[in-house]
Amino acid sequence: MPIISWDPKLATGDSVVDHQHKTLFQMVNELHDAITAGKAKEHLQKVLERLASYTLEHFAAEERLMGRSGYPGVAEHVRKHHDLAKKATDLIEGYRSGKLVLSLTLSQFLADWVRHHIAEEDQKMIAWIQTRPK
Ligand SMILES: [Fe+2]
Repeated sequence: MPIISWDPKLATGDSVVDHQHKTLFQMVNELHDAITAGKAKEHLQKVLERLASYTLEHFAAEERLMGRSGYPGVAEHVRKHHDLAKKATDLIEGYRSGKLVLSLTLSQFLADWVRHHIAEEDQKMIAWIQTRPK
């Protein structure tokens, strides 16, 4: 069962950003399913690393968008991206070295983070960009 499902209320109005968010949802669900199914460590690690690298690409795309438009909330938004990126790096390292196990707490945390971040930060950012004179 998916842990996160797309809600039209989460749309930002930017088709590229929305598409990337939907892909993130799919990847969080894939990780959740793999943890639930008790998949092998090698498999889980791959799914986790793929999710982390897609997330970084997506953050970079959003950061380019904010940089180009002169969005005033850029520093705070980027800080939130960096906090999650740091957590992800630590997590992958901890899992790789055997210090950590992956549990459903992780997929729940990621689902909550993504949903909250879109609703609180991304929608605000895109709304600001879209109301700017072109
Ligand atoms: Fe963001």
